Amino acid sequence: MRLAPIIAAALMAGPAAADTFEEVKITAGQTLFETECRRCHATDAEDPSYGPPLENVVGRAAGSYPDYDYSIALEASGIVWTPAALRAWMEDNAGFMPGTKMRHVGISDRTVQDFILAYLSHISPQDNAEISD
Ligand code: HEC
Repeated sequence: MRLAPIIAAALMAGPAAADTFEEVKITAGQTLFETECRRCHATDAEDPSYGPPLENVVGRAAGSYPDYDYSIALEASGIVWTPAALRAWMEDNAGFMPGTKMRHVGISDRTVQDFILAYLSHISPQDNAEISD
């Protein structure tokens, strides 16, 4: 995957002077999400998707999206989607959680993980502290 065009596009997308690096990461992360994740994951609960919607996923208990038919492995995992867990998942979801029904994705580039994480955090405005313990 070539990152330079994605970063360049992110830099040009907004009023450059006002953009913080965090905003650039979010925009790049959104582009990466569209190519790597969006075909299975909606970010809005109103959109149908094959995988569970990922809005508010950061800090959410794994397998807790209401009415989604998770694998037993994910539902019983007892983990919380911390940034570290999301990195491990992006890197090798099937190795991280044998038995998951999400097809293997292998995003091992830490910069790509950073960008996607920035975007996932951006779409996680809800304080999930209560359901994360
Ligand atoms: C080919 C379809 C597909 C792609 C591509 C995909 N996913 Fe998934 N994802 C799924 C399915 C299906 C599940 C449910 C897995 C289960 O129940 O074991 C899932 C589950 C998840 C979960 C757990 C959510 C929860 O509610 O516990 C996270 C987090 C996640 N995916 C993130 C990602 C990210 C980030 C990407 C892109 C890098 C991605 N997925 C790409 C199909 C996909």
